[in-house]
Amino acid sequence: MRSLKWRSVAAAALALASAAATVLVATPASADAALRVHAQARGKFIGTALATSPLANETAYRNIAQSEFNQVTAENAMKWSDTEPNDNQYTFSGADQIVNFATANNQQVHGHTLVWHSQTPGWVQNLSATNMRTAMNDHIATVVGRYASNPTVVSWDVVNEVFEENGSFRSSFWYNTLGSSFIADAFRAARAADPDARLCINDYNVEGINAKSTAMYNLVSQLRSQNVPVDCVGFQSHLSTQYGFPNDLQQNLQRFANLGVQVRITELDVRIQGSRTSAKDATQATYYRNVVNACLAVTACAGVTIWGFTDKYSWVPDTFPGEGFALLYDNNYSQKPSYTAVHDALDDGTNPTDTTPPTTPGAPTASGITSSGASLSWTASTDSGGSGLAGYNVYNSSGTQIATSTTNSATLSGLSASTAYTVYVRARDGAGNLSSNSTSTTFTTTGGSSDTTAPTTPGTPAASSITSSGATLSWTASTDSGGSGLAGYNVYNSGGTQIATSTTNSATLTGLSASTAYTVYVRARDGAGNLSSNSASVTFTTTGGSTGGCTVAATLQTQWGGGYVVQPVTVTNGSSARTSWAITFTLPSGHTIVGSWNAVLTVSGNTVTARNAAYNGNLGSGASTTFGFQVARPSSDTSTASGYTCA
Ligand code: G3I
Repeated sequence: MRSLKWRSVAAAALALASAAATVLVATPASADAALRVHAQARGKFIGTALATSPLANETAYRNIAQSEFNQVTAENAMKWSDTEPNDNQYTFSGADQIVNFATANNQQVHGHTLVWHSQTPGWVQNLSATNMRTAMNDHIATVVGRYASNPTVVSWDVVNEVFEENGSFRSSFWYNTLGSSFIADAFRAARAADPDARLCINDYNVEGINAKSTAMYNLVSQLRSQNVPVDCVGFQSHLSTQYGFPNDLQQNLQRFANLGVQVRITELDVRIQGSRTSAKDATQATYYRNVVNACLAVTACAGVTIWGFTDKYSWVPDTFPGEGFALLYDNNYSQKPSYTAVHDALDDGTNPTDTTPPTTPGAPTASGITSSGASLSWTASTDSGGSGLAGYNVYNSSGTQIATSTTNSATLSGLSASTAYTVYVRARDGAGNLSSNSTSTTFTTTGGSSDTTAPTTPGTPAASSITSSGATLSWTASTDSGGSGLAGYNVYNSGGTQIATSTTNSATLTGLSASTAYTVYVRARDGAGNLSSNSASVTFTTTGGSTGGCTVAATLQTQWGGGYVVQPVTVTNGSSARTSWAITFTLPSGHTIVGSWNAVLTVSGNTVTARNAAYNGNLGSGASTTFGFQVARPSSDTSTASGYTCA
C-alpha cells in the first residue's frame, strides 16, 4: 500500500513503452545521454531542487531541468511560509507550478517540507500548545491532502532538521512548545492524509557517522518500533570542499537501510571557497562522484537530489559570503567537471538507450491570429522512456519545421497576410525520439495593413525578485481595438534602448550590473506593429551581489507640471534580519522635497537619504516595507528623482 504511487508510475511507464515501441521509429541515445537516462538504467532517481521564478521565466533553466532530471523538489514553494502564510489561507500557485512541470516531464516530486523551524510564519510560532498542534495537523492534512491522489507527488519531508549538532533535540519553537511528540504526530497526520506517500525525516550534517546521525538513527529506530510511519531518511548533504569528505557515508546509509527505511540524498551541493580553480573543481567533482557512488552501492538508496543545478540560483553565496560555485552548471548554464563526475558515476558503460517516443500531442488550436502571426497551443505529451520530454516541433503542411517550443504552445511570426496555413506538431524527448504527428489545424491570417490604432498604454511596471544581475517586471496589460490584436510589449531603459520584449504583461531582465539603478518603462505593440505610448517608469537598484543586503524599487505614482509623487518606494530586505535601513537617491537640480511618509528624509546637496521611521526599521529575512515622498520642480521640467540605492 505504502509505495502504491511508485508502483503505479512504473507500471504506467512500462505499458506505454510496450504500446508505443511497436509502431514508432526510435533514435538511440548517445553514449553521453542525459543524467536521468543513466540514473533510470541504474534504478535510481537523479533530482534537482527547482525555484519558481527561473522556471517561469528562463528557457535555458527549464530545458536542463526537464532533460537532465527525473525527480524534483521545490526549493521553497512547498514550505509553510509559501503555502499557508496566514492561518487557514492557503496558496499553492508555486507548488502547483512545480508539480505541473514535473507531471509534464515525467518526473516524480518529493514534497519539502511540512514541519520545520525555519520559513514558518510568525502566527504559527506564537500559538499555544493546543493551537499549535491543531495548526500543524491542519497544515499537513491540507498540503499533503491536496496532492494525495496525484501520482507525481510520491514522498514528503515530514519533519526537517529536528536535531542540534550534539544529537539533542533542536530547541525550536516546535520542540519548546510541544516537546518531541510533535514528530510522531506529524508523521501520523501525513500518513492519514496520503496513505501511499513515502514519509521522510530529513537533516544536514548527518552524512557521516557522528553524534547527530546517531541520534537520528536512534529516533528512527524508536519511532518505527512504536509503529510511527517513518518510511525514509533524507541526508541533505550540503558539503564543502574545505571540510573532508564523509568517507563513512556509504556505511552510514547502510546502517539506516538496515532499519528497513529507504534512504536518499536530498539536497546535495558542494561549495568551494573563493573563486574557482581547476584544482577546486576537481576536488568538488570527486565529492559529487563519491556521493553518487555511495547511493549506487546501497540498494535502499532511492536516488540523489542536487539542491539546484546552476550556480546562478544557488542559495550558497547568500548564506556563506565568499563561498559558492556549488552545483553542476555555471552561471551561464555550461556544464562543470562536477556534472561530468555525476554523469560518469551514473553511467555504467552499458549505454542505455531511450527508444520510447513521447505520446502524440493534441491538435493545435490557433488564436491571436494577425496578418503576420498566430499563437498555437495543444494538449501536452508525456514521455516514459527515461530521457524526458524535451519539447515540440511545429510543421507546415509540406512537412517543413517552422517553429520549436519547450512548452505546449508556440508563437508563429513572419507569416503572409490573408493566407491559409495548415500546421501540426510532434513532441520530442531528450534522446531525440519524435512522437507521431498530431492532428493538423488550418487557420487563415488576416488581411493586414488596415490597423493603425495603437494599443492602450500599459500600467507602470513593478519590479520584483531583484538580484545582483536581474529583476522581474510586471504591469497592467494593454488592450488593442485596432483589429490586429495585442502582440506583446517592448521594455526600454531610460535612454530609450529596447532591453527586452515579452508576449505577456511581465518580463525578466537578465545580465544587469550589480548595485546599479535602472529606470525602465514599457510600450505595448499590436500585430500590425503599432506601438502604444510609454508607460510611466519605475526605478529599481540591483543588489550588491553575494552579500545579501537589501533592494529598493521606486514607482512614480503621479506627476504634473510642477511636481510629482513617488509611491511606493519598496525596500526589501536580504537574507539577514535588520533593525534599520537607509535609501539614497538623487534629485535633479531645482527639485525640492515637499513631503514624505513612512521614512525620515534628509537632504544634502542633490542627495536625499531616507531612513526608516521609528516603527518600520525591523525587517526580517526577505521582508519589505514601503515609503513615499512628494517633490516640487520647475514647471517646464519633466525629470524625476533617480539612482535609488539601498545603503
Ligand atoms: O521570496 C523573497 C523575495 O520576495 C525577496 O525579494 C527576497 C529578498 O531576499 O527573498 C525571497 O525569499 C527568499 C527565499 O529563499 C526565496 O528566494 C528568502 O529570503 C531566503 O531566506 C530563502 O532561502 C532559502 C532557505 O532555504 C531558507 O532557509 C533557500 O532558497 C533554500 O535553498 C534553503 O533551502 C534549505 C532547505 O529548505 C532545508 N535544508 C537547508 C537548505 C539550505 O539552507
